[in-house]
Amino acid sequence: MQIRPRRNRKSPAIRNMVRETRLDIAQLVYPFFLVDGKGIQNEITSMPGNYRWSIDQLLKEIESCIGYGIQQYALFPAVEEQLKDRIASYSYAEDNFYLDAIQEIKKAFPQIVLITDVAMDPYSSDGHDGIVKNGEIENDATLPILAKMAIAQAEAGADIVAPSDMMDGRVGYLRNELDEAGYSQTSIMSYTAKYASAFYGPFRDALDSAPKAGDKKSYQMDPANKREAFIEADLDTAEGADFLMVKPATFYLDVIHALKESYSLPIAAYNVSGECAMLMAACEKGYLNYETAMPEMLTSIARAGADIILTYFAKDYAKMNAAR
Ligand code: PBG
Repeated sequence: MQIRPRRNRKSPAIRNMVRETRLDIAQLVYPFFLVDGKGIQNEITSMPGNYRWSIDQLLKEIESCIGYGIQQYALFPAVEEQLKDRIASYSYAEDNFYLDAIQEIKKAFPQIVLITDVAMDPYSSDGHDGIVKNGEIENDATLPILAKMAIAQAEAGADIVAPSDMMDGRVGYLRNELDEAGYSQTSIMSYTAKYASAFYGPFRDALDSAPKAGDKKSYQMDPANKREAFIEADLDTAEGADFLMVKPATFYLDVIHALKESYSLPIAAYNVSGECAMLMAACEKGYLNYETAMPEMLTSIARAGADIILTYFAKDYAKMNAAR
């Protein structure tokens, strides 16, 4: 036998030397859920170890995460039902606690990257990402609302706005409106290939943002489609996106890989709430080992081609790295 692949696996040092994928903490984005109020740290049942935070508690948590080397964060608002309406007007209201929090976070930690969410659903009484009229989603009428929201977030200090709505034409629309408002340096991370997935359930529980009627299949992509992701990626690239995102991540590694091969923009992947819940549940039951299964999940997403991973495991991963 001349060729023995096992020679390159014979010691930890050799395995480390030939390792093809290295996941750096700088690639991880840690998502947080924000609620209005004070002194709140309320655990999300379906996502153990993840919380709805009030801003005072969240600032302490971010400080702790920075201590582990995490500099990238995404923020989502959990809005009280009485503030929701058909046109998501609270999303750009003067006294919006989410916008205040963006400002406070960037004031306390100007060095971090803060990614904010552009979509109607957390503020919509219909629980949809677009305006609903006679049971249909009004694509073009939704765009100005998204723009108002994005400009308000840019004004509050967001480094990157991330449209997660899947309306047609929204990246170009946002780019124009942001530029006209003087925010040409605010980046856009587009949810490019966002699928109508069953794995967003725990997130919708966290934000109480599930659709009141119908589903999101007329705007989010069919999980059966891969080539369609190229149509979305072509458009987002032409419309001025700074990042392309695939969501969810682990069941869509082929899509991540395909976009990485064909586009030059950084590729982000969202390791969504259901992927986190599934792993946590198996680990709690003792069916899987968290310390080994979790890093394997993240490494696989990176190996497929993700440059950036949004993941609820960011802090635990960073902690494990610090301990090593
Ligand atoms: C909605 C949005 C969703 C997620 C991020 N933004 C859910 C949805 O489309 O209903 C899901 C994230 C996760 O599951 O972790 N704008």
